Amino acid sequence: MAHNPLAPEWLSPPADANTLADGLWPATAQRAEDGAITIGGVSAPDLAARFGTPLYVVDEADVRTRAADLRTAFDTEFARIGTSVRVYYAAKAFLSTDIARWMVEAGLNIDVCSGGELAVALAAGVEPGRIGFHGNNKSRAEIDQATRVGVGTIIIDSPIEIERVAEAAVRNGVVQNVRLRVNSGVHAHTHEFLATSHEDQKFGVVFEDAPALVAAIRAQPSLAFLGLHCHIGSQIFGVDGFAESASRLLTLHTELLAGGPVPELNLGGGFGIAYTSVDDPTPARRLAAGLADIVAAECASRGIPVPVIAIEPGRVIVGPAGVTLYEVGTTKPVRIGENTRLYVSVDGGMSDNARPALYGAEYSVRLADRVSDAPAALVRVAGKHCESGDIVVNADYLPGDVAPGDLVMVPATGAYCWSLASNYNYLGRPAVVAVLDGGARVIVRGETIEDLLARDAGVSDAAHEATATRSTDNMKETTR
Ligand code: LLP
Repeated sequence: MAHNPLAPEWLSPPADANTLADGLWPATAQRAEDGAITIGGVSAPDLAARFGTPLYVVDEADVRTRAADLRTAFDTEFARIGTSVRVYYAAKAFLSTDIARWMVEAGLNIDVCSGGELAVALAAGVEPGRIGFHGNNKSRAEIDQATRVGVGTIIIDSPIEIERVAEAAVRNGVVQNVRLRVNSGVHAHTHEFLATSHEDQKFGVVFEDAPALVAAIRAQPSLAFLGLHCHIGSQIFGVDGFAESASRLLTLHTELLAGGPVPELNLGGGFGIAYTSVDDPTPARRLAAGLADIVAAECASRGIPVPVIAIEPGRVIVGPAGVTLYEVGTTKPVRIGENTRLYVSVDGGMSDNARPALYGAEYSVRLADRVSDAPAALVRVAGKHCESGDIVVNADYLPGDVAPGDLVMVPATGAYCWSLASNYNYLGRPAVVAVLDGGARVIVRGETIEDLLARDAGVSDAAHEATATRSTDNMKETTR
């Protein structure tokens, strides 16, 4: 099939528009004999029939394996250089109590960045000592709660916080472990990194200010300084940005050793994943090996002991293990000059995946209920919101006979989709279903119209009752 000039440069027409590209789909995703996609042994049509669409589907085995494999990779590579690693799952990527428990069972800790995320982790039964608390504007109440419940570490993000955390620790009778988030000046984007000497952004403290701030932390008897923290960005491929950042941090780390112990170094998260067939992220094992080599070399050249390393990956653990299932409502060929793009509108959109609208993120799509040998057509999957930027998949090829009633699946939606979901246009946020070994269960139920009206103080009891009746009539099984 010829390249459609309306397609972006990177997108080539596929040999077969039914193929599930390697590295893009959950580990258990495959085509069944009838052509439908199955995940965790459950077919897309079954999921749609039982739980409705749109639907977030998470491959439980894949999430657990990704978490465990990442931990093993980092454990092994850093053991090689004589130290250990604490892996914190960045809960902002996707958090529910089940997911928190899967992480703990895989030996990970949890990084939270709000009282809400902390509450979910605690509700999951995560031992507070395994939790790291982030945020550039933690409220006094959040700091108080974090110290009271005994979170393992608080990451100090500004000079003002030193006293706030110290006071809360005194009030709650604890000595609080803290890290100091610094701005290394390294900013990584997918394929390159940028190193600046000064950073104009809200996170972390200015690099040069760190020694004085660490001295201030050490002067507080209610605080125990663990080490520096730095997060250089997200969706990063390769190790160069991490290498530059680790090198800068270890210079500072070495300077701080003169004033007292610095047992740990936290290199943050940001490991990238594939969203399209041309994305080629660095595998976890190679990242771990690369980072370990850099840390070992930088420590050796400075003559300092290798600290305990902490990392905070989010996307790489849950992103590829999740998909979103939609039903097609309308299709519409749109001619632009000589060429045609087929708009395929689905029953969700920017409320369940804000990333294309927010970041221009690219995704991929496949028919989920059947295969077809119809010639492939360039499609744009649009949502149902009243906004032209409401795009789910900017460009991919689907069999050209895609039609209303078809199910389509978008892979790699496990991170920053559910967690960024909204109620724009009063759409309810979809349910999350975990699939495993042929079974499917709701781990977060979807929102009903009733849920959406529940907070509106002007809705009468009679209107609530009428909506309740209507919404049970309209909605599927247990999710809504
Ligand atoms: N640690 C810190 C301090 C962070 O700020 C973040 C992400 C992470 C760890 C985890 O990064 P990950 O490994 O998931 O890349 N909403 C954006 C991503 C924002 C990331 C914010 N911080 C997106 O959808 O691309």
